[in-house]
Amino acid sequence: MIPNGTLTLNADPAGIAQAADLLRQGLLVAFPTETVYGLGGDARNGAAVASIYAAKGRPSFNPLIAHVASIEAAQRFVTWSDQAEALAAAFWPGPLTLVLPLRPNHGISSLVTAGLDTLAVRVPAHPAARALLSKFDGPVAAPSANPSGQISPTTAAHVLSGLNGRIAAVLDDGPCGVGLESTIVGVAREPALLRPGGVSLEQIEAVLDTQLHHHQPGDALNAPGQLQSHYAPDAPVRLNASTAQGDEVLLGFGPVGCDLNLSAKGDLAEAAANLFAALHTLNDTGRPIAVTQIPEHGLGAAINDRLRRAAAPRNG
Ligand code: TXA
Ligand code: MG
Repeated sequence: MIPNGTLTLNADPAGIAQAADLLRQGLLVAFPTETVYGLGGDARNGAAVASIYAAKGRPSFNPLIAHVASIEAAQRFVTWSDQAEALAAAFWPGPLTLVLPLRPNHGISSLVTAGLDTLAVRVPAHPAARALLSKFDGPVAAPSANPSGQISPTTAAHVLSGLNGRIAAVLDDGPCGVGLESTIVGVAREPALLRPGGVSLEQIEAVLDTQLHHHQPGDALNAPGQLQSHYAPDAPVRLNASTAQGDEVLLGFGPVGCDLNLSAKGDLAEAAANLFAALHTLNDTGRPIAVTQIPEHGLGAAINDRLRRAAAPRNG
């Protein structure tokens, strides 16, 4: 436990400087990105990275994303390629993570990569994240800032509800804009979609001018740590519902009658931004959750991926 509890820092120059100092000391700081709040630690410091796994209660086979301030910073750690360049030019800073081969003498803790010879890297777009990464001037390993298996946080209050007293600080800069984690694309070999997310498959295929290989569920080698039951609220979740049954609360999309609507006008970007906060709100009712159908195209693929995990049989 942190003796004086978790500090809440404002995303102003003083707060950013203090957050960077805490990272330099090997301590953990949760910070906003445009996708979700990340739980950051110095990616070169094995003890700091170990404490990320400990704070989250996360299975140690699940590798982490290294967050950096710029393409140049990413190139210090991974072997670059034309495909990486095309994707980074199109989507960085932004909600895209690239998995690339590690360079010799990269200095990244093997706890970040879980012993793989590749590294997941991304340049986030959120101004507070960019300011923190520039000030810290090093790679920050950061999974989503929630206890393992629970709903991802899109506000500082969500972070504190799961991790208060277990991390040094949270940098508070309001709700996250995208609300879904980054899309993960493997470009170490043939380009492959490892996790759907904030940039759609269609957008990525348009830039690469080729079709991506798809991650097969259970394909542990491609995307370690893609546990099926994930993002799980406490209550059961039922998908493709048309009405609530029994005690259920109904989460809707589009022009439907429901208790809470992800986007009454049927806008998938708005639905993505609202998804995790809606699951937190409905979870707090203590009632089972039913969700109406959501289209599978564009950001809908990532929303449905998260909802299927929330509805999957629990790992116990
Ligand atoms: O939007 C996001 O990506 C957020 C924010 C904080 O940046 N982060 C996030 O991290 O979602 P996390 O730890 O919840 O998810 C990281 C994913 C895991 O599914 C992991 O398996 C995959 O990245 N991953 C990390 N390194 C990898 C690698 N070398 N090869 C394949 N997959 C990797
Ligand atoms: Mg996560």
